[in-house]
Amino acid sequence: MTEDQIIMLPGPTQVPPAAARASSRAMINHRGPEFAAMLTEITENAKKIFKTKCDVLTLTASGTGGLECLVANFVNPGDKIVVASIGNFGERLRDIALAFGADVDFMDFGWGNCVDPKAIAEKLVADKNHEIKAVYCQHNETSTGVTNDIEAISKARGNHPALLIVDSVSGLGAAKFRMDDWQVDVVLTGSQKAFMSPPGIDFVAVSDRAWPVCASCTNARFYFDLNKARASYKKGEMPFTPALSVLFAIQEALRFIDEQGGIDAVIDEHYFRRDVIRAAAQALHLPLVAAEHCASPSVTSIMAPEGVDPKALTGIMRDKYHCVIAGGQGKFKGHVFRIGHLGYVTDLQLISTISALEMALAELGYEFTMGAGVTVAQKMIVERRK
Ligand SMILES: Cc1ncc(COP(=O)(O)O)c(C=O)c1O
Repeated sequence: MTEDQIIMLPGPTQVPPAAARASSRAMINHRGPEFAAMLTEITENAKKIFKTKCDVLTLTASGTGGLECLVANFVNPGDKIVVASIGNFGERLRDIALAFGADVDFMDFGWGNCVDPKAIAEKLVADKNHEIKAVYCQHNETSTGVTNDIEAISKARGNHPALLIVDSVSGLGAAKFRMDDWQVDVVLTGSQKAFMSPPGIDFVAVSDRAWPVCASCTNARFYFDLNKARASYKKGEMPFTPALSVLFAIQEALRFIDEQGGIDAVIDEHYFRRDVIRAAAQALHLPLVAAEHCASPSVTSIMAPEGVDPKALTGIMRDKYHCVIAGGQGKFKGHVFRIGHLGYVTDLQLISTISALEMALAELGYEFTMGAGVTVAQKMIVERRK
């Protein structure tokens, strides 16, 4: 074990040094003016990332708590909803919705594919009586490394009144997103991905169109009641004791994003890192899960080649080279490994990851030209930094 690991997971991600230092600050009164000022700053900076003028509320929870919140506040028991799934987190959303008594129309587009907006349009056009209350989907499916075209999915609703509710836990801050322009109704993200902060905080953005649904929702909720969160925010507070240390870090991480030229520049770097990892994988003849047009700027899923066990591969990278990448999830477990490249990642960490991957592949007997992936990555980086 070493503290100097390179964390290339699709969350939790690396934390910029100023944010890591901030998380060890002394506690403050979460009902006092210092907290109110911090919460306001964080919220205003988060809005720049959501690209919204709507309410953005902060919750203390992991991303799954946020998913529960997306269901508990916008679905009445018995309501018909569409869950458009492309992997593990679509399936999780379905399971939560079922637990909360929704009538789920589960549209499975297949692991590795993206949601087809045409299929959503057809589903909603066929729903003449407007029984479908909401369409749920992931912005970025972390298990497969596929990003959905949320703008096209939103447009596919046409005149149908269904809300569009998006899990962007691993998308926001990494993949392009414009909540207001794309008319997305509710969006969730978490602190531990492209927000470059430790886990424990969620942000939920709620459009003006979605608030009445939330206000009249009859589903069971207490901790995750967004009406409470909204009322507290007006007083500069959160309803319950917040994860203060995580918020200290987020405040700094969001300042850091501004210092990097703002969210658009940071997102652009994410797409570049994606292109570097994909080019390196191709140079090593490793099959990519996601097609070019829907490849995620947060995480790249790579099929383990014949004879290479992803568990052994990730184990060698971690134990010998202190480079931590992820294995597969759900039905991809044992078949896929995933390199996270979202959040705070330097060029040399990208190069080191590809190098560690090559060394581990070599140890496992995979035949390839040593250095092929690193060389491609170096060339791309040199070109970009000119
Ligand atoms: C897209 C997506 N949704 C939801 C979650 C759940 O978040 P958590 O593991 O923090 O509960 C994750 C976590 O990786 C995710 O990637």
